[in-house]
Amino acid sequence: MWSDIEKRGRDALTRDMTEMLESGDRVGSFNVTFGDLLFDYSKTQMSTDDREALLTLARQAKLAEKRDAMFNGHRINETEGRAVLHTALRNLSGRSIHVDGADVMPGVLDTLTRMEHFAEAIRDGSFTGQGGAITDVVNIGIGGSDLGPVMAYAALAPYADGPRVHYVSNVDGAHIHDTLKGLDPTTTLVIVASKTFTTIETMTNAETAKRWMAEQVTDPAAQFAALSTAADRTADFGIDPSRVFGFEDWVGGRYSVWGPIGLSLMIAIGPNDFRDFLSGGHEMDMHFCGAPLAQNMPVMLALTGIWHNQGQGHATRAVLPYDQRLLRLPAYLQQLEMESNGKRVSMDGADLKVDSGPVVWGEPGTNGQHAFYQLIHQGSRVVPCEFMVAARGHEPDLAHHHQLLVANCLAQSEALMRGRSLDEARALMAAKGLTGDELDRQARHRVFPGNRPSTTLIYPQLTPHVLGQIVALYEHRVFVEGVILGINSFDQWGVELGKELANSLAPVLAGDDAGADKDPSTRALVAYVQAHRA
Ligand code: F6P
Repeated sequence: MWSDIEKRGRDALTRDMTEMLESGDRVGSFNVTFGDLLFDYSKTQMSTDDREALLTLARQAKLAEKRDAMFNGHRINETEGRAVLHTALRNLSGRSIHVDGADVMPGVLDTLTRMEHFAEAIRDGSFTGQGGAITDVVNIGIGGSDLGPVMAYAALAPYADGPRVHYVSNVDGAHIHDTLKGLDPTTTLVIVASKTFTTIETMTNAETAKRWMAEQVTDPAAQFAALSTAADRTADFGIDPSRVFGFEDWVGGRYSVWGPIGLSLMIAIGPNDFRDFLSGGHEMDMHFCGAPLAQNMPVMLALTGIWHNQGQGHATRAVLPYDQRLLRLPAYLQQLEMESNGKRVSMDGADLKVDSGPVVWGEPGTNGQHAFYQLIHQGSRVVPCEFMVAARGHEPDLAHHHQLLVANCLAQSEALMRGRSLDEARALMAAKGLTGDELDRQARHRVFPGNRPSTTLIYPQLTPHVLGQIVALYEHRVFVEGVILGINSFDQWGVELGKELANSLAPVLAGDDAGADKDPSTRALVAYVQAHRA
């Protein structure tokens, strides 16, 4: 079955997308709408037959059954023996969800209510620091305990009417130093966000923040909250249980923004807008569970991804939001997609027969246009591009900016597809008065191969509800791709070895030990640092 998709994908590489668009109702057929969202994949080389083959692939992988198993609390994360139920965190429908016979929803809703009371108390000033109402919140976390809230906080800036929120993730002391500089510890709340409460970066930063606060605050722990599954460790850290917001092991780190890990976002935008974010995600869940595969947005986004990566052999994909407030979305999606699907063995431990998830990268437009789009348009490798743009911005008095933004977004997908032929380039050079060899030479530099695929996701405006829809859309896209590849999208064993070795190297760097058990290259690097440290 993979050989069929690979053959189809490779055969289609020379297919002319412009001609494809002119025959039949491709535009009407190669898109999916859900609510106010439109996903257009007509600017690809996928034919109707190819799409059918991809849908067959999804059916053969038992996508619908596996999706239902996830939503119904089965332990589909087999290497960790866990259910996968981040969808329960946004289930505001009143439907029960069971894990091993027990309904998880009362606990989820109780924690949501506690979060809301706490967020409101901070926002209305009834929860205070030693110096008065909280003016600043510092969220300390990394990976899934950082990227979700940091991405959503930037995305929803027009809705942020609470205290300022700052995010510290990197163990590099520069990050916490630069963040705390200028903050008043007596009016700052520190949130330690860590599912495990053992992550070295987070715990190191949390201890540093506590010392910083202790310089001016008599009871620093009283201005700390914790978001974690490890109640014993949060207690050891000294955080009162009333400010600990727990969740279960069935919430994966990179899927956790919907629950307690989203507390900083809730404090910033308020519980009502946070609920809108949840309900957007929940609506996408309902669509994913109910829509036929061919009209199912996450499924078609995933199949387009499979087509480009495993089918056509394009090793990377660019996520290009024409939305400055989505500037952290590419980083968020890098974790979501690459930590989930960057695997080389299938569920049963056998080697994958095809490449796994692609390299995901990107930047907001139009900035990227002035940086790496040169390669996208004229480089020798094809990069499928995923454009995103809102029909309207949040600044009515700057509508002309938004018009330019949208024009640029649409122009890029058009340019990628159309390209510019040698004849067209020659005509341009001739019009400038060039002739002979010089005309030919200059024209060749101005040729765009074109026929390069892209997709476009358009939404009305980046509201909390729409952001919820978009994030859930991408989560389910990752799930569908993982099911088709036959991998476990919910573990992340690949991050462990580096952590172990860093733990063994830290004491070496702290002392004069040459690290005898290390390889010669690493020993030489250690020696350099030891020679140059202050
Ligand atoms: O990088 C590995 C990882 O486990 C991620 O999956 C996770 O989001 C991150 O570390 C942070 O983990 P924790 O929330 O337990 O501190």
